Amino acid sequence: MNTVNNTAANEAAPDSAYGTHDEIASRNGTLDVLLNRRSIRAFTDEPVNAQDVDAIEAAAQRAATSQFYNAWSAIRITDEDLKKKLAEVARQPYVATAPLLYVFIADQHRNYRIAEAKGVAESDITYGTSFMLAQAQNDAVLALHAMETAAESLGLGGVILGSLLNNIDELIELLHLPEHTFPVLGLALGHPAQQPQLKPRMPRELQFFDNAYPSDDETPDVLAQFKDFDATVREYYDLRDASKPVAGFTDQIAQGATSDAPLKKALHSHEVKQGFAD
Ligand SMILES: Cc1cc2nc3c(=O)[nH]c(=O)nc-3n(C[C@H](O)[C@H](O)[C@H](O)COP(=O)(O)O)c2cc1C
Repeated sequence: MNTVNNTAANEAAPDSAYGTHDEIASRNGTLDVLLNRRSIRAFTDEPVNAQDVDAIEAAAQRAATSQFYNAWSAIRITDEDLKKKLAEVARQPYVATAPLLYVFIADQHRNYRIAEAKGVAESDITYGTSFMLAQAQNDAVLALHAMETAAESLGLGGVILGSLLNNIDELIELLHLPEHTFPVLGLALGHPAQQPQLKPRMPRELQFFDNAYPSDDETPDVLAQFKDFDATVREYYDLRDASKPVAGFTDQIAQGATSDAPLKKALHSHEVKQGFAD
């Protein structure tokens, strides 16, 4: 079992009636992998062997897919120059150091072509609607997560890369993405060269509700609910690098609220450019 540095996770997850984090993880291999997952951003030079690549791609393909549309594709980035260009798009140098790099794509292009080839009138095809894009994004994320989990089960580590969307136009151009496709997320994988502490998660009652979303009236002071979690998050970052104190959870959320990430404002226009409309 993977028991590295789980102190914070145990402290942050006191809400289980059935045991500590490590006790739950030790129930079986799947729970061990899922409960000990963490983002890995540093990799050794060791390549990922072909058998492992084969296994994680097979796992991605087994993920559930809405209405059996199989509306996702993944692009393997094997060209080192392209990898470097993507690292620049992401503004994250470690992207270029990942032995394996995939970009997952919401893909209704394939289905659109099939429908056309079957003689469906273009005006009747709905694969280019925003609803179908959302469905394709769901498919892509599920496949990516299955791949990430499979990779971790083989002792690999990795990180999901939303940062590739820092420059959507360039990403679309670099990967030659056709109409009715849209980049969703990257996944960088390799043999871990770090074993970071598990990042805490909020108390379960703040994220799981029974039957309905609770009324705000029940919790007039939203920040009070997060007081202990804020302290736990600050402690987590302090343990990683005490010289760089980091804001607690609620401060991070407040900072994120005014983030000027291009995605927040421009996503819709990129979707329209890729042929997805209402
Ligand atoms: C949709 C999504 C996009 C992400 N994008 C990035 C990214 O671009 N760069 C990065 O370093 N981490 C990225 N992450 C990783 C998150 O920062 C990380 O999952 C989160 O901080 C929790 O940490 P943990 O995964 O170690 O538990 C992303 C995660 C998700 C789910």
